[in-house]
Amino acid sequence: MKKLNNWIETNPKAKWILLFSVIVITFLLGLFAASIMERRAEAQFVFTPKVKYDQLEPRSEIWGENFPNEYETYVLTSDTTFRSKYNGNGMRDALAENPEMVILWAGYAFSKDYNQPRGHYYSVIDVRNTLRTGAPNDSVPSPQPNTCWTCKSPDVPRLMKEKGVQGFYSGSWDKLGHEVVNYIGCADCHDAKNMDLKITRPALIEALQRQGKDISKLTHNDKRSLVCAQCHVEYFFDNRDGKQKYLTFPWDNGMTVEKIEEYYDNFKYVDWVHPISKAPMLKAQHPDYEVFTLGVHYRAGLSCADCHMPYESKGGVKFTNHHIQSPLNHISKSCLVCHRESEEEMRQRVYQRQDANKELQKILQHEIAIAHFEAKHAWEIGAKEDEMKPILDLIRKAQWRWDFAVAGHGNSFHAPLETARILGHGINKVKEARRELANIFAKYNNFNVKIPDFSTKEKAQLAIGLNISKLKQEKKIFLENVVPKWLKKAQERESKYKVQNL
Ligand code: HEC
Ligand code: HEC
Ligand code: HEC
Ligand code: HEC
Repeated sequence: MKKLNNWIETNPKAKWILLFSVIVITFLLGLFAASIMERRAEAQFVFTPKVKYDQLEPRSEIWGENFPNEYETYVLTSDTTFRSKYNGNGMRDALAENPEMVILWAGYAFSKDYNQPRGHYYSVIDVRNTLRTGAPNDSVPSPQPNTCWTCKSPDVPRLMKEKGVQGFYSGSWDKLGHEVVNYIGCADCHDAKNMDLKITRPALIEALQRQGKDISKLTHNDKRSLVCAQCHVEYFFDNRDGKQKYLTFPWDNGMTVEKIEEYYDNFKYVDWVHPISKAPMLKAQHPDYEVFTLGVHYRAGLSCADCHMPYESKGGVKFTNHHIQSPLNHISKSCLVCHRESEEEMRQRVYQRQDANKELQKILQHEIAIAHFEAKHAWEIGAKEDEMKPILDLIRKAQWRWDFAVAGHGNSFHAPLETARILGHGINKVKEARRELANIFAKYNNFNVKIPDFSTKEKAQLAIGLNISKLKQEKKIFLENVVPKWLKKAQERESKYKVQNL
């Protein structure tokens, strides 16, 4: 202080320099404070409700009147133009790209028709269109249960309230065709009262509770992933009581591929018996969430929304972009928030991981397809039940690993190391199965295995005896005659819902 006083007294300009410095510092501090206030105002979303609707209103366009930014971006999930190396917004015929899949799923509905996902906008349309749901009419039911609707629509929470959860999981898929008409929307993820994120599907709540988690203690960041984990997970339809097909997440022992397998093995669960090899098979669904939790981004505290729903700003209002899609279509907003590399470099980093896993996937799926035919040959040359059992179990285990790794479409980026680990174990299991099969061929002295041509989707479907053109014809009749009736009934029902203008 003394030094400063001396300096001011001895230097005539000092007072002025000091005064000027104080003015500049005060001005900068003011700017800084103003910017903080502005950010805070931005962070609170602007909300002047225009309409009032029921808590379970299934029509997103009604919610959209109050939240135009979120709604306008959400309907963009109808866009099918973007394509990345392995994914993208459009539909990709997974069977045509990987004809082995037809052999792997022989005897199961996925061998008929299987496309990579497109945007949420198509969730209801695509489940009606797929050959897997069949062509129901007044006298023929769908081969699938109502439970299939669970991850398709905000009509589901409404129906569960009306019918009870068990009531909803009963009956064949066509029974609720006139009730489930709105594609995935606001009421699937939000509480209409306060717009908080909300888990609306009982299967997720029940699975978390069985793991001993307290649902009321979930953080907001947890929910930014868990709203997606309502659907993007491994699941099965539990029919052990013979009454309904109760949607269940098999997470009681843990969420890794081995722990889920152990869960199924404990009660000898079988999705279907493979018609070529007679192996008791498991079908993996789409374990995106489970595998994501084993990757570096989950460990770093990210949630699904960070990459798939980045923040946007429009007219000074900050909001969440609801156009859920491949983040590679907006790398600057979803990756460059944290990473400092160029967009092209980030894209290549994703492709590098996907390419590596694709290589392993291709090896594994080809080996499994061959193993199914080799097992068929073993039966034909007289192999005994007890000789075949351990081999069929290895085929089940190999294909379960393959499916788990591949069916989560983001796995090879979300957790590349875990995905490679799973595929590696799959390759080991199938090689072991084929070694044992070779022993059987030696024992019965017959190596004459017949393997049909499955090099294209069409050839593979022919090889497993599927008459696709008949299925397609029946589907066409269903879409032209039955679906319009469903839509008309739905329109009449919805026209009576109360919406109040404010
Ligand atoms: C109610 C179930 C449900 C919820 C909740 C849900 N999804 Fe989906 N998601 C689906 C279905 C079904 C599809 C496939 C739709 C189709 O292909 O017709 C899909 C497709 C996708 C796709 C592929 C889009 C494309 O353009 O290829 C992405 C990415 C995705 N979801 C991410 C998410 C994220 C992230 C969340 C959470 C913020 C989420 N989903 C929540 C059911 C759901
Ligand atoms: C698949 C789940 C999902 C669906 C469907 C969904 N949202 Fe969201 N919504 C989110 C997530 C995740 C956030 C981000 C929350 C956060 O980061 O704090 C969010 C945030 C919001 C917010 C808070 C403001 C903002 O933009 O961050 C509003 C309002 C909102 N959504 C409205 C809607 C409306 C309207 C619809 C239907 C057109 C809808 N949401 C559909 C998951 C969803
Ligand atoms: C760090 C960013 C990041 C996070 C976090 C993230 N993803 Fe992804 N996700 C990606 C990238 C990158 C891809 C690959 C996109 C491509 O190949 O076009 C992808 C792919 C997907 C796909 C396949 C998309 C398609 O077009 O078929 C789905 C579905 C998906 N993610 C869902 C999720 C879910 C659910 C979560 C949370 C459990 C999640 N993602 C978390 C970056 C992320
Ligand atoms: C919120 C911050 C954040 C966002 C957003 C984010 N990342 Fe990351 N990313 C991280 C962190 C943290 C790590 C771990 C870095 C470390 O520990 O060295 C990481 C690691 C990675 C790695 C190396 C992972 C591995 O497999 O070894 C890749 C590749 C990557 N990110 C790509 C992406 C891409 C692509 C996107 C956008 C789709 C993205 N990231 C979005 C924070 C983020």
